Amino acid sequence: MRTESVSAPKHLGIRSHELFSRARNVFPDGTTRATVERDPVPRYVMKGEGAYLTDVDGQRFLDLHNNFTTLIHGHGFGPVIEAVARQLHDGTCFANPTAHEIDLAELLVSRIPAIEQIRFVNTGTEAVMFAIKAARAFTGRPAIAKIEGAYHGAYDWAEAGQVGTPATWGLASAPTALPSYTGTPKTVADDVIILRFNDARGAREQIVAAGRRLACIVLDPMPSRIGLIAPEADFIEAVVTTARQYGILVVSDEVLNLRQGYGGASVRYGIQPDLLVAGKIIGGGFPIGAVGGSRDVMEVFDGSSGAAKVQQAGTFSANPVSMVAGRVSMEHMTEAAFERLERMGDWVRGELTAAIEMRQAPYVVTGAASLFRIHPKRRMPCDYREAYTQPGEAASIRAMSRFFASEGIIFPAAGTACLSTAMSEGDLKKVVQVFDRYLAVASTL
Ligand SMILES: Cc1ncc(COP(=O)(O)O)c(C=O)c1O
Repeated sequence: MRTESVSAPKHLGIRSHELFSRARNVFPDGTTRATVERDPVPRYVMKGEGAYLTDVDGQRFLDLHNNFTTLIHGHGFGPVIEAVARQLHDGTCFANPTAHEIDLAELLVSRIPAIEQIRFVNTGTEAVMFAIKAARAFTGRPAIAKIEGAYHGAYDWAEAGQVGTPATWGLASAPTALPSYTGTPKTVADDVIILRFNDARGAREQIVAAGRRLACIVLDPMPSRIGLIAPEADFIEAVVTTARQYGILVVSDEVLNLRQGYGGASVRYGIQPDLLVAGKIIGGGFPIGAVGGSRDVMEVFDGSSGAAKVQQAGTFSANPVSMVAGRVSMEHMTEAAFERLERMGDWVRGELTAAIEMRQAPYVVTGAASLFRIHPKRRMPCDYREAYTQPGEAASIRAMSRFFASEGIIFPAAGTACLSTAMSEGDLKKVVQVFDRYLAVASTL
């Protein structure tokens, strides 16, 4: 099946081109974040409304991106808009605490078993960084372990081993802790051990070898950059049990996967982490990150009797706008709302898979709850190396994303698609129908 020649998107209009030519003068590569998709230029957005967004050329799209899975209620969720509008009048940031931060903290503590106490920051990157610092301060050890290919934001140690290619990722038994940018201090790689996802034996051996040098293992239960592959129970068991034997903390990074359920992803996969990192959905569409955990570990942030072991501050940390938006958004994510999203996700993944099987097309679908991903592969991948997008596959993904755009759907070209509570049955059917049409078109090329 050849897919490279599916035509360029019909819907990338003149205004996006005009804005991009201005942007290129003021931003390196024309964008302000590396993850902005472009084909050949980014689509500039004018507004979002529920499950849809409208671009600057006035064209409407069903949004399966939802700002990297953040907008669990879609765009412009009424209750959040009202609460935030009130808060704007009352003040957007203070040097003093507000009741709003306690409200959001209480909500999260009551739902997520791993969190007894919590601290808020502004991004997932910061939250991962503070979780790692907390683990180091708690254990007195410098090194961390993490999963090959997994994304945890931009803290140097969390980034290592994230961008490996077949030429650079090294031995399967000891993957390279590749720095993500030139000039990273060499000591970073010295203090990062890379484990392969779903390789229980390999992970156990590496953790044992590093032993008491490790402060923590940072584990995203279903890493999106690896391809939203389900974690195998024996892998989780091996990582957590071996960590316990050596006094190594387990950090569950649920910045993206908290979306997988009322209590988050660790509950779903039976992990009892010492620290849990959250972000995205808990901010209701505003910047946020959070690190929480057991009282004894969180004590490293306690500065009430002298300097805290880990100083965590931040000019905008726990700003009342993010706190209010997050609380209202999460209040509407009741258990029933999570169950509905789960059913929607199951239906979409099932129908996409049925379309693939019917046409015997070379694709597989991964994901859980409201998250899904379509891989242009015949076999279900089980780790980063298997999920790695080969050059021919990249063309296929781009072609599929273009086809979706031409049919009025934003489908993340290289990433994770997600559903929102704003989506209707009709929206979901449209996703499946467009995919099926794409398979039909692609098979004739
Ligand atoms: C698992 C995970 N951790 C950390 C981050 C970083 O979060 P942020 O982009 O808010 O810094 C992300 C972002 O996508 C993520 O998916």
